[in-house]
Amino acid sequence: MKRQIAVLTSGGDAPGMNACIRGVVRRADKMGCRVWGIGRGYAGLLDGEAQPLSTRSVSGVIQRGGTILGTARSDEFLRPERRQEAVRSLQEREIEGLVIIGGDGSLRGALELERLGMPVVGIPASIDNDLPGTDISLGVDTALNTALEAIDKIKDTASAHRRAFIVEVMGRNCGYLALASAMAGGAEIVLVPEVEIDVDSIIREYHRAHRVGKPHFIVVAAEGARLRALDLCEHLSLSRPGEEAFEVRLTVLGHVQRGGSPTAFDRILGGRLGAAAVELLDEDQHGVMAGLLGDTVAAVSLDELLAAPRPFPRELYDLAQSLA
Ligand code: F6P
Repeated sequence: MKRQIAVLTSGGDAPGMNACIRGVVRRADKMGCRVWGIGRGYAGLLDGEAQPLSTRSVSGVIQRGGTILGTARSDEFLRPERRQEAVRSLQEREIEGLVIIGGDGSLRGALELERLGMPVVGIPASIDNDLPGTDISLGVDTALNTALEAIDKIKDTASAHRRAFIVEVMGRNCGYLALASAMAGGAEIVLVPEVEIDVDSIIREYHRAHRVGKPHFIVVAAEGARLRALDLCEHLSLSRPGEEAFEVRLTVLGHVQRGGSPTAFDRILGGRLGAAAVELLDEDQHGVMAGLLGDTVAAVSLDELLAAPRPFPRELYDLAQSLA
């Protein structure tokens, strides 16, 4: 039985992180284990920022976006000697396990701490959905619905003016958010980093859509796509001979996708993964990530899952193209 563990959120915040912290704290509390909340991710870990968390201190957070612990991207944590110091200070405080809630970079950091002797369990949380070892990461469902709501609204104004819109969504190097929001939003074209797309074919489609009388032309572009949203905007505008094609506008959704109240799915997932992480630490299963596979929470080795990128769902991409 662990007597003391700590929890931190790291990297880009994701909706559902608070529900997950709550899951960690409440599960641990039931087991008689004390939880320390580390502020500002690895930066706070290096600076010794820790506060005790109780069942009461996480009440009223389940519906809140962001993270009550704060988060950061820490360059200092990349230095091996600083990581060593962080592990030493956790051990001095008699912290016997660490739950790390974050994305790819944060889980790589988690693996380094595990290698230095601190038992860790990672929880996948990133709106990008770029992590393997889980069907979905915490925050993806909320971000997807936020992007979708924006696309639906943009479609209204696009149809009213008979315009083309390029909507840039987040996702860093992963096209999942773009693909899923394009498919759910019925976009004409989706640009993702994983698939090269010829600009001339998009221009042809843009003109064809106008000729056949479509009221709008919507392109959802991942921020990491090789053909940049701004460049496509220029290509389409330049190919427009007067009134014979849609006028073009660009909307960059940006960080709005990271905020907001988590969906029911993300709240439940946060609670499940948080509680599972505490149980795994208690069973001495560490160096793993608690992910969702099918409807089951499963522990996957961090070492293995971080060795290869998450495969791109090509069949979903092809289907999205054929239904557009
Ligand atoms: O990883 C999550 C994410 O929102 C990416 O989609 C995006 O590229 C990046 O973080 C933005 O990072 P920052 O908040 O540091 O600007």
